Order: sequence, then C-alpha cells, then structure tokens
Amino acid sequence: MGDEMKYRRFGRMGWDVSEIGYGMWGMAGWTGSEDQESLAALQKFVDLGGNFFDTAWAYGDGHSEELLGKILRANSRKRLFTATKIPPKNRRWPSQRDFSLDDCFPPEYIEEYVHKSLKNIGSDTLDLMQFHTWEDGWLDDDRLAESIQKMRASGKVGAVGISSNRWEPANGIRAVRSGLIDAVQVIYNIFDQNPEDELFPACREHDVAVIARVPFDEGTLTGTLTLNSTWPEGDWRGTYFVEENLRASVARAEALRPLLTADMNMPAMALRFILNNRDVSTIIPGMRKIRNVEANVAASDRGALPRGRHEELRKHRWDRVPTKWSQ
Ligand SMILES: NC(=O)c1ccc[n+]([C@@H]2O[C@H](COP(=O)([O-])OP(=O)(O)OC[C@H]3O[C@@H](n4cnc5c(N)ncnc54)[C@H](OP(=O)(O)O)[C@@H]3O)[C@@H](O)[C@H]2O)c1
Repeated sequence: MGDEMKYRRFGRMGWDVSEIGYGMWGMAGWTGSEDQESLAALQKFVDLGGNFFDTAWAYGDGHSEELLGKILRANSRKRLFTATKIPPKNRRWPSQRDFSLDDCFPPEYIEEYVHKSLKNIGSDTLDLMQFHTWEDGWLDDDRLAESIQKMRASGKVGAVGISSNRWEPANGIRAVRSGLIDAVQVIYNIFDQNPEDELFPACREHDVAVIARVPFDEGTLTGTLTLNSTWPEGDWRGTYFVEENLRASVARAEALRPLLTADMNMPAMALRFILNNRDVSTIIPGMRKIRNVEANVAASDRGALPRGRHEELRKHRWDRVPTKWSQ
C-alpha cells in the first residue's frame, strides 16, 4: 500500500495542508477511546506527512485539545496546523434561527475561549479558530465582525472560520461572502453533495478554504453498519442512528457495494470521491486507530477516482434536512 500524502492550498491563508487531515472528536467524545492508542495514531499520522488537525474545546471539555498539545510538543520541529472551535455558550447543537449572538458567542466569551483553548493546547498561538455552530443572521450584529477582527489582531489566532450545522450548507454562504472568514467546515461526502450547489462556488470566488468533515457519514460509509448495530449507553451515535436513520443509511451503503473493486474498499472509495473535488482543501476523517490512519493516508496516495466511477457515485447523492434526531 503506497502512503505518500499529498498537499493542497488552504484558501487565502496559502498554507500547504495535508489533503487528509485529522478529525479529533472520537478520541475524546465517543465511547471506546484510549489515550495511548489515540496518541499512537496521531503520531503515525505525523510520521506519514499529516499536518492538519481539527479539534474543539467541546471534544471532552478540552481533552482532545490537550492530546493535540502533546503531539505538537513531540514534533516541535514540524509545521503542524491546529484548528479548534469555540463551543456555543448555550451548549446547544445545532444552533437555531432564533438563537442570538448573546446566546452563543458574545464578544467577551469569544476571548475567554481563545484563552481556554490555547491553555489546553499549551501554545501561544493557534492557526484556525472556528465557531462550533453557525447562523448567518449573526452577521447583522456588528459586534461579531469586531470580535473576529480582534481575534486576528491579537496575534493569537491566525485564521477564523465557521463550522456549519449538519445539513445546512447554505447557512454560511453570507459568512463566506462577508469577507470576514478564511475557512468553512462542512459535511461533504458521497451522500451529502449539496455544498457543491452554492457554498463551494462562493468559497472559490472568495478564496475561502473548505474543510470537508464527516467523510464516512459518521460510520455509514465505512460499510460496517448493519440493521443490528448498537452503541454503548452514552455514545451519541446511539441517538443519531435511530431506527429511521439506521435503516435508510444501511440501505444506501449497501447500494454502493457493486461499485467496490478488489483493491478499493468503501472507506477508500468515500475519501477518494471527496478528493475529486478541488474546492476541498482538506478532509478530516475521525480516526483513533493506526490502521485507519494508514488506510486513509493511502487514499491520498491513490488520489481522486477515475471519472466514470466518480460520475456513478454522484448518482448516490442524498439530500437531507435537519430532523429531531440529526443533532
Ligand atoms: N459540528 C462540527 O464542527 C463537527 C461535527 C462532527 C464532526 N466534526 C469533525 O469532523 C471529524 C470527522 O467526523 P466524525 O469523526 O464525526 O465521523 P467520520 O469521519 O465520518 O467517521 C469516523 C468513524 O470512521 C472510522 N474510520 C476512520 N477511518 C476508517 C477506515 N479507513 N476504515 C474503517 N473505519 C474508519 C473511525 O473509527 P476509529 O475512530 O475507531 O478509528 C470512526 O468510527 C470529527 O472527528 C471532527 O473533527 C465536526
């Protein structure tokens, strides 16, 4: 298996980021995580040329950020890019249209969380700070632009981005067009192709970086879910893969099987599908195991899918809207 990581430009920041980045939620928020295993997987990723990490204060109330800090210190000679997120003050995911800036991201609270994240990571600066929920309506409050400018001017934060709510890619287009942000993190995978409609063209026009998250649809596109899948008590996936979602997700994943080949399993196909899109700067699969890191870096080595296969997969687009269980 080849393991040459490739790199892409991170929007107007111009950073050369690994096209496979590291999603750090699972290691501090999902059941079954072991810090030693996670740290070994993170180190393997760095050894294989990975340089972009996505974490958040909310992933274990700072625990995932602390793990990132350990990896930064163990690799201090390497240029590693750190992205984290400010949790909404009301701790409600996703945000709702009637949540105000004061409910979620008042100015003094933004500053407080920049400091908290820097402390957890053990660093004086971080590359990208993202808002962990987003409403385009907040742009009407001038204090938001002031807070963003203040964050940059402090020298503590290099770039500012938003992480859009699940299945709401259009709720972020105004932010991209405002010129205030440098990056958008959005769900983009074989099923969720709708960011291509309007969000990606806006990002292209404004040179805003795209971070493609949830490439495996939280597990569906690893091809391992069955109608009998269950999760331990307290694992959020148990509340996401409710019967209605599990049934539909398994059926959609099964429909992809005829497109697999002897040398390409479902996770590899899922990542390579995303690589076909040049608007994407980096993809951030969630990983805790070394074998998954190796497999996902190998997908970068193999590169984008041949055109015919990509066209076939485009037909599996699945347009979804937020529901009471989607979170
Ligand atoms: N609102 C937000 O901002 C938000 C929301 C969701 C996610 N995110 C970010 O996006 C990242 C990715 O999303 P996600 O972690 O929720 O879901 P995901 O990437 O769609 O799926 C992660 C799952 O795939 C497994 N996996 C990874 N590589 C694999 C491979 N090659 N073969 C088989 N299984 C593989 C992982 O297993 P192991 O863990 O056991 O290795 C994990 O169970 C998060 O970690 C986080 O950084 C942000």
